[in-house]
Amino acid sequence: MTRSALITGATGGIGQALARHLHAAGFPIFITGRNEKKLLELRDELRCPGLALDLSPSEAAPRLYGAARETLGHIDILINNAGFNKAKIPLSDVTAEDIDASYALNLRAPMLLAREALRDMGARRSGHIVNIISSVVHFRAENFSVYTTMKNALHAFNGCLIKEARLVGVKVTGVYPGGVNTAFRAQPRPEYLQPESVATLILNCIAAPDDAVVHEITFRPMVENNF
Ligand SMILES: NC(=O)c1ccc[n+]([C@@H]2O[C@H](COP(=O)([O-])OP(=O)(O)OC[C@H]3O[C@@H](n4cnc5c(N)ncnc54)[C@H](OP(=O)(O)O)[C@@H]3O)[C@@H](O)[C@H]2O)c1
Repeated sequence: MTRSALITGATGGIGQALARHLHAAGFPIFITGRNEKKLLELRDELRCPGLALDLSPSEAAPRLYGAARETLGHIDILINNAGFNKAKIPLSDVTAEDIDASYALNLRAPMLLAREALRDMGARRSGHIVNIISSVVHFRAENFSVYTTMKNALHAFNGCLIKEARLVGVKVTGVYPGGVNTAFRAQPRPEYLQPESVATLILNCIAAPDDAVVHEITFRPMVENNF
């Protein structure tokens, strides 16, 4: 059976590159992001189904998973990729709304989507959940507290999920990229990793032999030395 994949954050950067790579490799995919115009363009390009929605409200994750499952018939790979960092800001300027928004998208949404996937895939004793985390969990930086906190929590969640999912035959991979040249930052960073390179490395994890699981993968652009 051909494995099919649900990819969040597919309207930009890493998610868009992943959608193109998985499509080219023959995987049926379901794409999602907030920007309806970008989603429709990618749907047209790849001739694949998708749904534009904001993943921040707690009801969005089960709604998305249900829609993707109904359309694809089965979901074998969930890629929790959608995420954001508003800006690098000192804690003195961080608002409660900043913390809530980061929590809702960077932590709660991937947790709820993983829950949906584990219920579904675990019942079939097969599947793969990929969480895009960040190499930010491996260091500390000033003015980066909100994003770093949420990604560290996602890292902890990923570790627990690895254990729970193993019991029901589901693979889990945590991905820890260093800087990637996407719209994640206001300024382009051509010296950083290209999103296509990130997609290639993630595809290798998905293509691991049946008897192997890549639990964690960290990679960085050669210019980075923050480790
Ligand atoms: N770029 C880096 O240096 C880097 C490094 C390590 C880890 N990461 C992680 O990699 C992942 C992808 O980042 P990227 O660099 O590809 O960023 P990006 O180019 O800004 O793309 C982010 C994606 O997330 C979607 N998204 C944002 N807010 C959303 C919301 N509320 N609901 C649903 N979708 C939403 C965006 O959709 P719309 O544009 O349609 O809103 C877009 O498709 C993130 O989890 C990020 O933390 C990035």
